[in-house]
Amino acid sequence: MTEKQLIELLNDLSFEEKIGELQQLSGRVYFGDDGIITGVDSNENLTEQEVNRSGSVINVVGPDKILKVQKNHIKNHPHHIPMIFMLDIIHGFGTSFPTPLAQSCSFDPELVKEIAHESAVEACNAGLHVTFSPMVDICRDARWGRVMEGSGEDPYLSSKMAEAAVLGYQGDDLSKEGTIAACVKHFAAYGMVEAGREYGTVDTSERFLRQYYLPSYKAACDAGSALLMTAFNANGGVPSTGDKHLLVDILRDEWGYNGAVITDYGSIRSMYSHGVTKNAKESAKLAMDAQVDIEMCSYCYHNGLPELVKTGEISMEQIDRAVLRVLQLKNKLGLFENPYRFTDAKKSLEVINNKTAMDLAQKAVSKTSVLLKNEDKILPLKKEEKIAFIGPYVYENDMYGGWSIRNQRKVEPRNIETVVKEKYPQNEFVFEQGSELLGADEPILKYDRARGSTLEFEADATARKQKIEKAVKAAKTADTVVMCIGEHTKVGGELAAKAYIDIPKIQKELFDAVAAVNKNIVVVLFDHRPLDITDISKKSKAVLNVWFPGIKAAEGIVDMLFGDAAPTGRLTMSFPYTVGQCPIYYSQLPTDHSPVIESVYATGYIDCQLTPLYSFGEGLTYTDFEYGELKLSKETLSQGETLTVSIDIKNIGERDGVETVQLYIRDIFASVSRPLKELKGFKKVEIHKGETVTVEFTLTPEDCMFYNTQLEYVWEPGEIQVFVGPNSKIEKFKSFELV
Ligand code: BGC
Repeated sequence: MTEKQLIELLNDLSFEEKIGELQQLSGRVYFGDDGIITGVDSNENLTEQEVNRSGSVINVVGPDKILKVQKNHIKNHPHHIPMIFMLDIIHGFGTSFPTPLAQSCSFDPELVKEIAHESAVEACNAGLHVTFSPMVDICRDARWGRVMEGSGEDPYLSSKMAEAAVLGYQGDDLSKEGTIAACVKHFAAYGMVEAGREYGTVDTSERFLRQYYLPSYKAACDAGSALLMTAFNANGGVPSTGDKHLLVDILRDEWGYNGAVITDYGSIRSMYSHGVTKNAKESAKLAMDAQVDIEMCSYCYHNGLPELVKTGEISMEQIDRAVLRVLQLKNKLGLFENPYRFTDAKKSLEVINNKTAMDLAQKAVSKTSVLLKNEDKILPLKKEEKIAFIGPYVYENDMYGGWSIRNQRKVEPRNIETVVKEKYPQNEFVFEQGSELLGADEPILKYDRARGSTLEFEADATARKQKIEKAVKAAKTADTVVMCIGEHTKVGGELAAKAYIDIPKIQKELFDAVAAVNKNIVVVLFDHRPLDITDISKKSKAVLNVWFPGIKAAEGIVDMLFGDAAPTGRLTMSFPYTVGQCPIYYSQLPTDHSPVIESVYATGYIDCQLTPLYSFGEGLTYTDFEYGELKLSKETLSQGETLTVSIDIKNIGERDGVETVQLYIRDIFASVSRPLKELKGFKKVEIHKGETVTVEFTLTPEDCMFYNTQLEYVWEPGEIQVFVGPNSKIEKFKSFELV
């Protein structure tokens, strides 16, 4: 439709139809337990007619169901306007890929884009139109369960990943097959919730908000994200969903964002829980004034807007603007010309788990896994040795992680034991489970209540003991032990904040027993977040952090263990030494008692080091690299100029490899305190054994910009230090002057 036709349609809609467009329904409205349209769910308090006028729905999964709802909807809607089907497709649809946090560790935006594209291809024929992804909240506190959905602690890296994901989902034309609309979330700064508490509160200065927390949302908006989701949290006491300054002054007016803004689940209603509105009407007023277009699964617009318009507190122009944005979104998706938009059960079955997606899923495992330690080059394993594979994840088929869609696959994932045995049938390997994933003594209190699904805990103390004994017996005679341990696959994502970030006690008990009899331990660690692995790391020779790698986890991990692929990921969230260090991130500000000044009066703790166990950017691979001398093309840099940074890197190891070269800067003196180091560039380079390559970066004064006390985005003259190295711990630098 042309814009003119859209406006004509808008003008032709009744007031009730307009309000309907702004309403997002829950899929529960349509489906009873048997999966057949059963009419209105009585809980929702809407009439059949009101349901028929609603603009979108969340959580209807399966092409047949979607077709049924859409056909019914078009038939019953007074103007036959199709609805939009939305779902959280966070790391794959039928093909589950590594979690977003893992993906960010690839330092490879192209990979993130490909994964988003393959997710869109699978979801499109299944009838879905919008995914609630990417989540670009900056995450610096491992206690928060949702860190697995983001790209970690750094604004620069996170922005690159945000852009890549949007482009991957949406392609260049949203009306084409194989695309879905992106919805960047949660605006804003949800990742900063105090102490990682789920649905907690945030308080940040506007300067920090702009400097560190907003850039990744902006990158997604600039890349064309068709939607943006508000956040549950309040910032400084102002709930995001009613934050006019954030949603209008910054998002709409400054950034020029013209896509549709949707709330998080029920988050207009929850302004009441925040204690800032007394009823639905007040909540609706705040959200409408903040130009929020779609209300997800609460009914404040529905209940509050008619009265607000009648009293003149909300104008018809405001309503029309919001409705037009919804119609524009439908138009971008091609729904007016193509209301069933490629929904095709047969084709969906064909594309789900297609070869390209499955190959990508396997390739992604080594690109996203981070080798944190590899003493004596114990990895890759030597096939001729006697190897014991021990731990619950040896036998686990589900290595998907949180927010994964487990019921849309047609290929069953395999486990590590199966894949090792198939690949190496003749070898002298043994396998022991050693323990369940969770014991009866774990401090997980709320899971069952929240999810409506249960976790299994090993309650039988004798069985627990016997499994450990069998594992110890196997470990005693093995040359090397591969321990596959970690967090439970479902305890990550929303509602999975933790006050303890250790691996489950039952597995730690197993680990300690095995470590007491064998020193050659390789840990394959599964996690949603950085865990406290200080003791585990001390007692093992290698730690291969695989996060949750998805449907091809077993194949990808076995490839890495035996050297058919090399891990090349780098940490995008620091691993704390202990939970007491959280939040922790590399780009700290210098302080009054900065540790750079040699003194006992230094910032930090008296019982723990200041730095994390493993820092941002860290990660090894199966070869080594030597960095040459850093060169800057000039000593001064001014407006309109560029400066070239170059460095030679040599592969001094025994095999070809991929290095992730990282460039950081430090602005030593500025009108506000600037971080000790900030990432400003990265490159992945393949370097053959014995080969040297020159890696170049370009810097401009814009790379040194920051928000000053007046909230102006500026660069100031003065010395800038440049660091290039394999991780954020690099100390050698060269300086130039901004003039
Ligand atoms: C989450 C969002 C999600 C939405 C829809 C909310 O509870 O915070 O991230 O997209 O539900 O499932």
